[in-house]
Amino acid sequence: MLNVVAIREDFPILKREVNGRPLIYFDNAATTHKPIQVIDAIVRFYKEFNSNVHRGMHTLSQEASELYEEAFSVVAKFINAYSWEEVIEVKNATDGLNMVAWGWGLFNLRPGDEIILTVVEHHSNMLPWRIVAEKTGAKIKYVDITDDGDINYDQLEEVVSERTRVVAITMASNVLGTIVDVKRICKIAHSVGAIVVGDGAQYVPHVPTDVRDLGIDFIAFSGHKMLGPTGIGILWGRRDVLEDVKPFRVGGDTIKDVTLDSIEWHDLPWRFIAGTPHIAGMIGFAEAVKYLMRVGVENVRQHDIELTEYTLKKFEEELKEYIVVLGPLDAKKRTGIVSFNVQNLHHHVVAKSLDSFGIAVRSGGHCAHPLHYRLGFKGSVRASYYIYNTVEEVETFISALKIIVTLRDILSRQLVEDRCTGT
Ligand SMILES: Cc1ncc(COP(=O)(O)O)c(C=O)c1O
Repeated sequence: MLNVVAIREDFPILKREVNGRPLIYFDNAATTHKPIQVIDAIVRFYKEFNSNVHRGMHTLSQEASELYEEAFSVVAKFINAYSWEEVIEVKNATDGLNMVAWGWGLFNLRPGDEIILTVVEHHSNMLPWRIVAEKTGAKIKYVDITDDGDINYDQLEEVVSERTRVVAITMASNVLGTIVDVKRICKIAHSVGAIVVGDGAQYVPHVPTDVRDLGIDFIAFSGHKMLGPTGIGILWGRRDVLEDVKPFRVGGDTIKDVTLDSIEWHDLPWRFIAGTPHIAGMIGFAEAVKYLMRVGVENVRQHDIELTEYTLKKFEEELKEYIVVLGPLDAKKRTGIVSFNVQNLHHHVVAKSLDSFGIAVRSGGHCAHPLHYRLGFKGSVRASYYIYNTVEEVETFISALKIIVTLRDILSRQLVEDRCTGT
């Protein structure tokens, strides 16, 4: 079990008030807050070690390089990678997914080859493949969801063929919360020789991740959704498939040697990390990973289940006639995400109203527009939990929603300026 009271002490921002109320932060699927240990590690780097890495013989550069390189080993241990060399620093999950689509897809796909996606995909795991399909002549095939918000695995088995080269799939949906059976997908895809690219943005922070056990080929995830700083993410790939990826951002530090007519690429992972990296970001991220390892991701998982189960139960008991829940009704099938709509009330109005109670949720299409259209919505409200959230906070959220639904007639006339940039 998590010691939530102690954990909350590590997060300075949780002392904030919003609209005169204690902040209740339920927008963790967008980004999580950062514990003081992560903030301190970043500040300490700039105060004591600041220097460029892999470029200097002087002491500061050597110390910075050591700290920076250690971060790769910390991440490798967290996901049970075969080696730290399989851990590629990228900007975020989006960047990592683009790296596979452009660096692997563009050079390996041929006209008529097939890429399999699902209707659940976040735009970050859909758009890169669509563009690369256009450029290579490959075809996209989509797998649907079942009525209870799971991936339609039977359909996946049907659409996979000898022409399938890639199955690119969210490992946990950022809207439905659905945790995908990655092993099952790998088995289906590998039976025809296709690779599996996992969008781990909502999975790695919430579900214990063992890349060897999953048998997957690539996973991309973001540091900022798991207590780390923004601007840092990871693309993990198994060495044999990574060797097949062409560096698509090149320049300083990506090579061993260059002459006017030849290039000798650097070893993994450096050939993919072009220019001065986000040194402080990687060090801060390693601190976040150490924090999660101390807490135990299996405990994060239990905590997610507890809060999600409680929310779904309260929705059923007290708000059933007003609320439509998206995704599986069994909390054990989800991460800590509950997306919903209040009937006859725009999702942005619900989110803005919750904000007046100090409750931060996300509203909109959550960068998964095709999924919302598939479900017959333009958007939804999303409450997403993490390690510092409490049952008491969920209770306040439910009470606020009960007030909001009674004021529906007045609120539905209220115009809320849409400040989301189309996502
Ligand atoms: C499932 C999923 N994939 C990809 C992303 C993109 O993450 P980032 O914006 O950090 O690149 C997100 C972000 O919300 C996500 O939820």
